[in-house]
Amino acid sequence: MTAVTIPGLDQAPTTHKRLLAWVREVAELTAPDQVVWVDGSEEEWTRLTDRLVAAGTFTRLDKKPNSFYAASDPNDVARVEERTFICSVDEADSGPTNNWMAPDEMKAIMTELYRGSMRGRTMYVIPFCMGPLDAEKPMLGVEITDSEYVVVSMRIMTRMGAQALARFTDADGNERDFVPALHSLGAPLAPGQSDVPWPCSDTKYIVHFPEERLIWSYGSGYGGNALLGKKCYSLRIASVIGRDEGWLAEHMLILKLISPENKVYYIAAAFPSACGKTNLAMLEPTIPGWKVETLGDDIAWMRFGEDGRLYAVNPENGFFGVAPGTNWKTNPNAMRTIDKGNSLFTNVALTDDGDIWWEGMENPPAHATSWKGEDWTPESDELSSHANSRYCTPMAQCPVLAPEWDDPQGVPISAIFFGGRRATTIPLVSESFDWQHGTFMGATLSSEKTAAATGNLGEVRRDPMAMLPFIGYHAGDYFRHWIETGKRADADKLPKIFYVNWFRRGDDGRFLWPGFGENSRVLKWAIERLEGKAAAHESPIGWVPTAADLDLSGLDADPADIDAALAVDLDEWRAELPLIEAWFDKIGDKLPTSLRDELAALKQRLAG
Ligand code: GTP
Ligand code: MN
Ligand code: MN
Repeated sequence: MTAVTIPGLDQAPTTHKRLLAWVREVAELTAPDQVVWVDGSEEEWTRLTDRLVAAGTFTRLDKKPNSFYAASDPNDVARVEERTFICSVDEADSGPTNNWMAPDEMKAIMTELYRGSMRGRTMYVIPFCMGPLDAEKPMLGVEITDSEYVVVSMRIMTRMGAQALARFTDADGNERDFVPALHSLGAPLAPGQSDVPWPCSDTKYIVHFPEERLIWSYGSGYGGNALLGKKCYSLRIASVIGRDEGWLAEHMLILKLISPENKVYYIAAAFPSACGKTNLAMLEPTIPGWKVETLGDDIAWMRFGEDGRLYAVNPENGFFGVAPGTNWKTNPNAMRTIDKGNSLFTNVALTDDGDIWWEGMENPPAHATSWKGEDWTPESDELSSHANSRYCTPMAQCPVLAPEWDDPQGVPISAIFFGGRRATTIPLVSESFDWQHGTFMGATLSSEKTAAATGNLGEVRRDPMAMLPFIGYHAGDYFRHWIETGKRADADKLPKIFYVNWFRRGDDGRFLWPGFGENSRVLKWAIERLEGKAAAHESPIGWVPTAADLDLSGLDADPADIDAALAVDLDEWRAELPLIEAWFDKIGDKLPTSLRDELAALKQRLAG
């Protein structure tokens, strides 16, 4: 049999054997019109964005340089957790929190879906690197996609193209390994068939083969489903690599806090999707003398350094941030970042003068086009923007980016925050007794469901370490990995673990704590706890401050609200116990006994 000829297939800018073989295999299966090897150049960006404008996918913004507006298919707006699978060889390695199917069975189904799925389209080959390019062991991947939107988004979100491909062989000329990530919109075009602005399929699969370190995605063009370097590689697959190699891949922001004495602290924080990571990562402190710089807003890879401390690296190169609620007051640094241009905006509103707008932004336009393509005015009953609409913007444009953001060494983490969105029960901040208790806090983290994934808004669910949709293996084994991690370092070198809740509400539904820049007061308290400077009292759930222990100078808030935000309500906590118990029962036999012990101890403290 002679090899199929597809234009571009043989113009590979590499001799990497495994890569060439995989690209050929996928091209023969998916049957695109041509193959393009993505180089990441400016010229390529211009060509692809022009093409997306011509196709009606993008509208060029007059008011922001080199920036574009896109509206997705209304059925392709968020991650699809019920269509996300961890196809481990053994079902017991996927666990009760993931969907599972046997790898062979899944591959048989998806191979038929991929057969001819790129007909009439271009197949792009995107070499990329998660984390710094000059890492000793660069974390490489290749995404194959038939979506131009994905290519230009990947150019913002990852280090990609020629600069990444250059890392595919090491200094000795040996071929490096990479994670193959296959993406197809599942919308082939028949000859003469005209395209739609947002092609996708009603059939969607987001699939991970953890043993093979392989990703297959089908049917969606949206963010976390389609930009496979992000959730699929850097969390689901990387969490498995981390388990095997002794490090952590987490859904965490990384920030640098600088005290008035110029002491530097690095903090990582895990909050579920749409619960405040991006906002905290770029925070502008309201307390004088304190500064925050950003290293990452969504993902942290943490490994022990030679000094026994835990060092964090952000694998990403851009921000894919929730748009609604972002404004000059809540997140001025995000506004400054997108104002520099070179950004993509998906499912927000398009103003008549060629800018973007969303709910919560200042100065609503008198008229705009909604994300659904309909006329919108401030009087409209419908929202102008989808609740999970996003901006996609280069990290390098962030005015408070920490200079060490691209250092392959990473930064030593002093504190880890867990937090969720809870109207009751969880106080503004508490400090764990030790690593194991902190792991318990993370393992039982709960939050009300947001628009970042499809499903019932507002429903409280357990979201361990904010990783529920992203753990690439059994949650019980993941908890064990956390417990084990704490045993690999001296207690005084481990980050201290805190539990926060910016979202507690009063009886009338208002937030008790003003949040955003004011969260710097909580960061300050946590850091001063590490320094042994701030006071706290012991409660059944951990060390907690009273209002007097926090720096509240200049805070414009009702003192009764602050007390209510800080309160540990024993009855609310007693009501929480059966929920935690049910959650642990769901995890089953693989739940570490030390976490059962933590629950028993909490129960006892609450009874006392
Ligand atoms: P993903 O990017 O989906 O992982 O979410 P994220 O954790 O980065 O969430 P983000 O920072 O984008 O915040 C999502 C929503 O929470 C926005 O609507 C914010 O306005 C709101 N929010 C963030 N921080 C605070 C806060 O301190 N207080 C209150 N009340 N709302 C907040
Ligand atoms: Mn996220
Ligand atoms: Mn975010």
